[in-house]
Amino acid sequence: MPNAVPAGGYTPPVYPYARLDALKQRAAEAPGGIVDLSVGTPNDPVPEIVVTALAKAGPKSAGYPRAIGGPALREAATGWMERTFGVALDPALVLNCIGTKELVASLPSVLHRRDPSRDTVLYPAVSYPTYAMGAELAGCRAVPVPLDRDWHLDLSAISEEDAARALLLWLNEPGNPTGSQSAAGPMADAVGWAQTHEVIVASDECYVEFNWDHAGEPAPGATALSTAVDGVLAVHSLSKRSNMAGYRCGFLAGDGDLVAYIASVRIHAGMMVPTPIQAAAAAAWADDEHVEVQRARYAERRRYAKSRLGEIGLRDVGGPSSFYLWARSAEPAEDGWAVAARLAGSGMLVAAGDLYGDGGADHVRIALVEPLERLELAFDRLAVATPHTLATGGSQP
Ligand SMILES: Cc1ncc(COP(=O)(O)O)c(C=O)c1O
Repeated sequence: MPNAVPAGGYTPPVYPYARLDALKQRAAEAPGGIVDLSVGTPNDPVPEIVVTALAKAGPKSAGYPRAIGGPALREAATGWMERTFGVALDPALVLNCIGTKELVASLPSVLHRRDPSRDTVLYPAVSYPTYAMGAELAGCRAVPVPLDRDWHLDLSAISEEDAARALLLWLNEPGNPTGSQSAAGPMADAVGWAQTHEVIVASDECYVEFNWDHAGEPAPGATALSTAVDGVLAVHSLSKRSNMAGYRCGFLAGDGDLVAYIASVRIHAGMMVPTPIQAAAAAAWADDEHVEVQRARYAERRRYAKSRLGEIGLRDVGGPSSFYLWARSAEPAEDGWAVAARLAGSGMLVAAGDLYGDGGADHVRIALVEPLERLELAFDRLAVATPHTLATGGSQP
């Protein structure tokens, strides 16, 4: 077996969404086809201004781009930060990245090289799996921080030992998968805790444009950079905000020394955003109109899906924000995989909650990335199947 991993070598875990493959197949067999609400990948149109900027930049992009990002992109990013949060940053404190997943996955490695005396990455106990994966790839300890009833970090649950060893604390508000609301109070508390313990904060704020209060009204989102810039990094992405997941562009902004250090490593590794993508990204950060359109789409889908959850034996237990519903079965309690299997039997594919941590086991995440008429189809099919299913306690064929 020439390609086997040598004894003692590292084997990565199965990719979380690959664990849904069998259910995906099953859902595809439903009449009318699969309604795929599993991965949070946007299906709505790329804004016209973005497509135009991309096409215009193509012929002028023969040379290598700057690893840190060109001035137009960095200025557009700080302009957006100022409009959105009232935080004025020097564009020199911005570093672009090739989508934020690669940054989330590599940040612990870079920071651990910088400070080998700290070996622990703290992250929300129910969260985007790449926070833990980044720690694992860096050879660091991945320590989940429990969440309170509003799905914010329960900072009091962090042990003294973990705090003393912590290199990095991840925040993610609005939260994936929990839908926690981004708000200044919890954000400032987390930054304050990190400063007391001399821990770097990385605040992943990629859903901040989709922030609502409990009445479903748009609510101003918070950035960790409002509390402090020293020791703080904010992470932003165009994937969700501007339906540009396929373009791969995000940025990191904050503490000047940290940004410069991270940039000095990334330039060696050739981590460059292609020039036409940078131009498209600059156009996207400079425009808010297309985001309003997208926000209205997600708000409508949230309202609709929430109103029909009860019919399919589920209740929404998550926060009011993001484009995810975080749900669990009404009664009796069902494991998240059992719920996902039941839903897949009628063509709706959702993510089982344990993909986001053990604490998510009795939940499912429903990503509202399909248009309203597809959601209607999915709920109608399930509503017909569900009373029978719950009455007999059986699963769908
Ligand atoms: C919380 C969170 N952070 C980061 C990402 C990565 O997004 P991208 O790499 O497309 O910027 C995602 C994607 O789903 C996410 O949910």
